[in-house]
Amino acid sequence: MAIVPGWHYPRYVAHRGGGVLAPENTLAGMRAAQAHGYAGVEFDVMLAADGVPVLMHDPEFGRTIAGRGAVALTPSEVLVRLDAGAWKGEAFVGEPVPLFADAAYWLIQAGIWMNVEIKPAPGYEIVTGRVTAEYTARAWARREPGTPASPAPLLSSFSEDALRAAAAARPELARAMLWQRVPADWLARVRDLGCVAVHCDHRRLDAPTARAIKAAGYGLMCYTVNEPARAQEIFAWGVDAICTDRLDLFAGR
Ligand code: G3P
Ligand code: MG
Repeated sequence: MAIVPGWHYPRYVAHRGGGVLAPENTLAGMRAAQAHGYAGVEFDVMLAADGVPVLMHDPEFGRTIAGRGAVALTPSEVLVRLDAGAWKGEAFVGEPVPLFADAAYWLIQAGIWMNVEIKPAPGYEIVTGRVTAEYTARAWARREPGTPASPAPLLSSFSEDALRAAAAARPELARAMLWQRVPADWLARVRDLGCVAVHCDHRRLDAPTARAIKAAGYGLMCYTVNEPARAQEIFAWGVDAICTDRLDLFAGR
């Protein structure tokens, strides 16, 4: 199993952009991660009705953007005018839903590593995997001369269909399989998908499974680790990286 050249983890990864410090999946979140010295961010990508990828976690409006509606049925030109910041407080009123292309450009220029989580709305797994991979590859290929070095981006998804479609579209991009709990047949599945890494919920990971994943040569990142003592415990199991909401607690490490 070859790890894709040019790809490796930073130790600490900001979850959904800026964790608890900023509205999730916004450029304000990316700026918060940068300000706290993070070398990597994770964020979620979903397709708008016109097939344009945007940063979004939930398929339905209501939690991070006001109103009612489905992201997959709303054109990107409408989504980018919605307020994705107000739910997080007055300081973020007017923070827009970012286009993935804009967020990727900003992060790459800033030298910040991207874990692009492909987050398809139900029923859109294959197209979301394909389009997200295409946009990621294009953004990475277009980084400008003089851009600070960052490791190559990593795609991940809970959807095997999305990862297969990403692999078919852009096989050169590194991919990670996301599970809440790593299944017993994890090795066969990551081999079959051509993944380089496993991402999982740290609360459902045990030391023998972590050690087996590392012994087999795969990367291993856990979400969402918000306590430094827990991070140290799972690092001792061989976990490579943690994804955290508590940017403040892990800043500068
Ligand atoms: O990619 C790790 C983590 O973000 C997965 O959970 O729901 O926050 O996207 P979620
Ligand atoms: Mg995510």
